[in-house]
Amino acid sequence: MSLKNIYPIFDTILSRSDKEKMLNQKAIVIWMVGLSGSGKSTLARALENSLHEEGFLTQLLDGDNIRTGINNNLGFSPEDRTENIRRAAETAKLFMNAGLVTICSFISPTDDIRKMAKEIIGDGYVEVYVDCPVEVCEERDVKGLYAKARKGEIPDFTGVSAPFDVPKSPDVSVDTANQGLEESHQELVKAIIERIKH
Ligand code: PPS
Repeated sequence: MSLKNIYPIFDTILSRSDKEKMLNQKAIVIWMVGLSGSGKSTLARALENSLHEEGFLTQLLDGDNIRTGINNNLGFSPEDRTENIRRAAETAKLFMNAGLVTICSFISPTDDIRKMAKEIIGDGYVEVYVDCPVEVCEERDVKGLYAKARKGEIPDFTGVSAPFDVPKSPDVSVDTANQGLEESHQELVKAIIERIKH
């Protein structure tokens, strides 16, 4: 007689919904899209903090923990960006299936790249466009990267020498060019909490 017959627990595959029930939340992947300097990383962090305060279990994925770790062999060529997003989306899916509200912050510059992320993640993918035109991001130039890109010191820089397709049908959009970060943050928290309440 097999162990499975004596101990049925050995044959039970726990589903995402079993884990969602335990955590009392709906697991989704919040895929934040936007140019460098649009405010997406700041908003992603602020969103994570607010959700945490409301009692949701979250995981944040961004360049700081993905490009320095699992993707530390990748650059910014079109092929490397595609691979960056493919691995990030697969990782996000694992967290989502563990029941977590997973927040991803990547430029994700093209329609094709975002389509791939959406296909990998499937049900639960929520696209958030952090809307800020390149002129405004360049004026802010928080990290000094646009100036370097204009001088040709950074090749393939998104919005300058590499493409950025404006998302056509994001699930949520926040306008960080015309409103303060606090306002965008409040709008985003409201839109997300509606989707993750169990
Ligand atoms: S992508 O396109 O989604 O794979 O990019 P991502 O993983 O989000 O990485 C973007 C951050 O990398 C820095 N960086 C560059 N961005 C765009 N183009 C080039 N060539 C580049 N080189 C370095 C930049 O600081 C981005 O950070 P954020 O937080 O977006 O400003």
